[in-house]
Amino acid sequence: MINRRVEKGVARGREFEIEVDGEKLRAHEGETIAAVMLAAGRRTFRQTGLRQQARGYYCGIGLCHECMMVVNGVPNTRTCQTLATPGCRVETQEGPGKLEVAF
Ligand code: FES
Repeated sequence: MINRRVEKGVARGREFEIEVDGEKLRAHEGETIAAVMLAAGRRTFRQTGLRQQARGYYCGIGLCHECMMVVNGVPNTRTCQTLATPGCRVETQEGPGKLEVAF
């Protein structure tokens, strides 16, 4: 597993795992899902609907929407604004997200 975190001299919160497209990634309390993705070397967060072009982390402040992923079944989640939580399931989003609603 790739680890791009600075390890020396940094205090981090409790460690846990999240699942991204079936792969277990190491996360720490207080990290956003986008931070976990980048620390693991993953740069594609979603694909455009028309040409399937890769998109990923860009502004980091919730404005560009390039980091949208499906988080615990909820599409269009801005992962730069969403904290990782133990056991959360994240999927690469393809095209515009569709929320499955059960009646
Ligand atoms: S990186 Fe721009 S909204 Fe998340």
